[in-house]
Amino acid sequence: MRRKVIAGNWKMNMLPNEAIDFINNLSPLVKNSKNEVIICVPFTDLFYTLLTVQETNIHVGAQNMHWEEKGAYTGEVSGQMLKSINTEYVIIGHSERRQYFGETDETVNLKIKSALKNGLKPIICVGETLEQREQGLTIEVITSQINKALSGLTTQDLSNTIIAYEPIWAIGTGKTATKEDANESIKSIRQEILKSFGTDDITILYGGSVNDKNAKELFTMSDIDGGLVGGASLNAETFSKIVNFD
Ligand code: PGA
Repeated sequence: MRRKVIAGNWKMNMLPNEAIDFINNLSPLVKNSKNEVIICVPFTDLFYTLLTVQETNIHVGAQNMHWEEKGAYTGEVSGQMLKSINTEYVIIGHSERRQYFGETDETVNLKIKSALKNGLKPIICVGETLEQREQGLTIEVITSQINKALSGLTTQDLSNTIIAYEPIWAIGTGKTATKEDANESIKSIRQEILKSFGTDDITILYGGSVNDKNAKELFTMSDIDGGLVGGASLNAETFSKIVNFD
């Protein structure tokens, strides 16, 4: 279902005491927002963060998971484990995981299916490299990533799924896509989903150097439903301004 969503991605930052302070600082600042607020935290912060957000309008997600339920996969955490402590969301296929940890379109698809099966809501990341953009391959790359990611899903699954379009060259670089380019890419994702599922009623976010100065112009474009925010989600006041962009 299309709705305005602002999701923070803390990446590998924040100790549990910092996470608790952050939520306590953020919650009064966003309590009147009609936009959905999500914070995706490291595994070690999940339990503390989930306890601290009780009685607030802040939702919590993890940043990765394994697709098997359990077994001999040293160092991994499963969707069933995330669900067992009431985690609601999970980022899947972030470009940093594709780039540094060997995530492929196939493992992304397995993880998405396992997340949905376990009652988690995946936040699926897609996006092109600078080289692909310069070669004019942006739309081809992202529609292929989307088709592979969503393979085997039902229309019902889409209502529990969020997509984040994050051009890789815009992540952590201070360079954002222009609002027109971001909107165009997201529109093409929507059209691809419409072709496969007969509906494009799905929340699609933009990510890549979103901050409190550029949030409004991006999030008010026709096809952009909000943002996945990295660096600017580490400060509660700055992040609250992004949540309250409207
Ligand atoms: P950034 O990260 O906002 O720091 O560019 C976004 C992301 O990686 O999700």
